[in-house]
Formats: sequence, C-alpha cells, structure tokens
Amino acid sequence: MSELVKLTINDKEYEAEKGSLLIDALLKEEITIPHFCYHPAFGTDGNCRMCMVEIEGQKRPQISCDTPVKPDMVIYTKGEKIDAVQRDILELQLVNHPLDCPTCDQAGECKLQDFYMDSGFYVNRVNVQKNHALKKVDLGANVMLDQERCVLCTRCVRFTTQFTGTGELGVVSRADHSVIDTFPGLKLHNPYAMNVVDLCPVGALTSKDFRFKHRVWFLESFDAICNGCSRGCNIKVDHRKEKYVDDTIHRYRPLENQEVNGYFICDEGRLSHKNETQNRFEQSLISNVETPLEDTKDALSQLIKEENNTLILISPNLSLEEMEIVKKTAMKMNATVSGYAPQYIDESFGDDILKQNDRSANRAGYEKVSISEDEKEFQNALNKASLVVIFENSYFDNQLDLLENKKVVSFFSQNSPVCEKSDIAIPVASFLEKSGTYINCTGVTQKVESQMKKDKQSEEITSLLESINVNY
Ligand code: SF4
Ligand code: FES
Repeated sequence: MSELVKLTINDKEYEAEKGSLLIDALLKEEITIPHFCYHPAFGTDGNCRMCMVEIEGQKRPQISCDTPVKPDMVIYTKGEKIDAVQRDILELQLVNHPLDCPTCDQAGECKLQDFYMDSGFYVNRVNVQKNHALKKVDLGANVMLDQERCVLCTRCVRFTTQFTGTGELGVVSRADHSVIDTFPGLKLHNPYAMNVVDLCPVGALTSKDFRFKHRVWFLESFDAICNGCSRGCNIKVDHRKEKYVDDTIHRYRPLENQEVNGYFICDEGRLSHKNETQNRFEQSLISNVETPLEDTKDALSQLIKEENNTLILISPNLSLEEMEIVKKTAMKMNATVSGYAPQYIDESFGDDILKQNDRSANRAGYEKVSISEDEKEFQNALNKASLVVIFENSYFDNQLDLLENKKVVSFFSQNSPVCEKSDIAIPVASFLEKSGTYINCTGVTQKVESQMKKDKQSEEITSLLESINVNY
C-alpha cells in the first residue's frame, strides 16, 4: 500500500500518494489544470507546458505532469502569478491556431476552447501572419487530420508507438512548421486507430463517421457497454431524439474502466453503433403479414397452447434478466432452453489487446443462469421440437431448411431471414434500447441503464414475456 501524504492546494488540504504525479492528484480532486500532452495512458511527455503550477519554495513555476507528490507540498494552480504564466503559454499555443471554432467539430468539447474561455484572455496581441498548413489530410480509413488546429501534444503519436505499437504517425518538419503526418507509405489503418480522435484535445483529428454530422451540445449521453465482443468495453453512448425522428445513436466513445478496457475501444466496436439503428425489424408479423402487436401476442398464446414440444433458442447477447425470464417462461411451457450459438465465434477477430473471438456480450451469463449451449442437447431438442421460439439468435439465418415442418416464433430487433419464415415474428428492443446486466469474458459483471427514448414498436423481451399468457 503506497503512503498517503498531506499537501495543500490553493489553501485547502488534500491527501495524495507519495511519489505519484501531481497532475494526477489535481485531476483526481477535480481541480482545473490546463493540459494537452499529459494522458494517464502514456505518462509524462512535458511538451505543451500548459500544466504549470506554483510550488512554495521553488523559484520558478513547474509542470505538474512531471512533478512527484512530496509530503507537505504547498501548491497554487491559480492566483495572479500562475494565471499569467498559464495565459502566456496559452497565447503561444494560439499564435498559429486558425481559431475556426464555428466550423470545428470539436467545438463544445475542445480543451483549447475551454482553457481559452477560462483564461478570460480575449484580445489578440500577436499581429504576425499565421502559418498555414493542410486542413484536410486523410490519415486512413476512419480519421481526418487538420494540421492547422494541431497543438503538437503528440498524444496521437504516442498512442501508435505505446499502445498499438504500429507507429504510423510522427512529427515532421521543424519549429513552427512542425506538423503531424503519417510516415511515407503508411496509413493509420490499425484496428484501434480511431482512439486518436478522443485523445486529440483539439479538433485536429476527427472521425470520418461523425464529422460535420452533429453539434455535440445537442447530444445526450449515457454509460453503457459495447456488444461487439465478449470484452464488454465501457462506452459513452451519444444519442439524440429529434422531432419526428426516432431516438438515434450517433457515436460511441470509450469510457475508462481499468478492469475491462483501460481507456480505449476498438474501431469495429466504436462503429457498431450503426447496428442499433440500421435494418431494424419494427412491425410484428403473422405468416409474414403485418399485424398489430396485440393480435400477434394473442396468436402467440394460442400457438403455445397448441404445441407441446418446444425448443427455445436464445442469444448470448441477451441480458441476465432476459435469460432468467425466458427460463421462467420455458418452465411454465415445459420447453427446453438452449443457448447454442457457435456463429458468434470469429477466430479471426480477437487479438491480445482488447478484441475477443467471441462476438457476443453475455455468453458468461449462460453459466450464471444455468443455460446449456451444448451442441448435442440442442440438436436433440431441435429434432424433437414442433415449435421453435428464437430470441435474437442468428443461428438459423443461413439454414432456414432446419426449420422446415416446424412452427416458428421469432423475437428480433434487426431484420432476419427467420422473421419472414416465422409463423409469428415480434420486434424487440435493440441492445442499447434496454437496460440489463452482462458478464464479460473475464467475469466482470456490468449493468447498463439505457436512456434511449422509446418511440418505436420495440418492447423489451422482459415486459413482452410478462404480458403474454403462456399457460397451457
Ligand atoms: Fe495532439 Fe491532436 Fe496534434 Fe495529435 S493531432 S499532436 S493529438 S493536437
Ligand atoms: Fe504537462 Fe503538457 S500536460 S507539459
């Protein structure tokens, strides 16, 4: 256990770990300290000089990202002297900056804009011509660079050297003509590349997927997990409900969780937000004919009464709560429940960073609620079944013939070939339209509280099953 020591910051007493970085102590206590180059994932670089503090007993201000905490330190992050130092450094950062906030995607979440507004320093004293650089550099599949907006903090460069080890980015040219670029013959094509967009403290790096689409102050956010694989990376879901348009997710951003994903997420998971809105299954069907939901539910109750050999196939993407209610329903129906889902295993997806070959969010939940995914048990139950009820499991998508001569009921949030084939098909809420609990590949239990505003016909499986009469 590391030693805690007392220190005084802006005349108030705090405790921090002896030897830890002063900037970490400040950030932990939510004390504003301007900084660009420091990021806890990469440690100290010390190039931006923005994080200056005044330390009693030291002649000159020091950068807090390279100062270890010592017992009884007395620190000032604000005050006439240190404010002037921080303002002078900020002024230098702005000498060549284009100040194009009105057209910049980062506006509203830009550190440079925030520090500038906080400094109250509004008058430009520099009347030399600004250096110009390239405004639209295509770095690779998903990221654009505006070299003029860059403050050369090198977070993006250090991400490619320290995190992915791919080293595509570097600082080229010298002095105030220095810019970020890819090395000759290289593109920023690694599977985690889009994290540089979040790392960039200004609007120099933008995501092709999100740029020019929305002003960030119109978006609402909630914390969730990604269901792109069994890692269950923590994400911020940015969504918006516009007039006459369904509540729509516009981007995922990584959320720090040291137990699960550290600071980052993969690009494929990040871009999977589109799966939530595209190709939605929205209208309940009886024999492929659009039918009001209530009539569909009645038909389902009737069908359940008629059939007495039922297999229920669930998906490893269902939440623990959904698995439990399906199990309870199955007991009432005397049905077999299987979680067989080999199609979610993709041997080419995983790596030794975050990505896992299992492309489902809650396979570990099967064990918790005692649901078997054994192939033999599934095949036996399928052979015997006269009714197959499918919850979000895509196993039959490419083998509809296995459902020949059986009654089929399906619950899907996305269109599936099984819906058309089903006697009854009912749309359900997508992964992030519902709340639930999931267990990831390392056994971490995570709860998602969805804040999506429901306006489409997409009930949650839990409430749907509660509302259907399943008694024989
Ligand atoms: Fe920093 Fe952004 Fe410039 Fe990279 S592009 S050095 S992250 S300001
Ligand atoms: Fe400390 Fe950049 S954050 S020098």
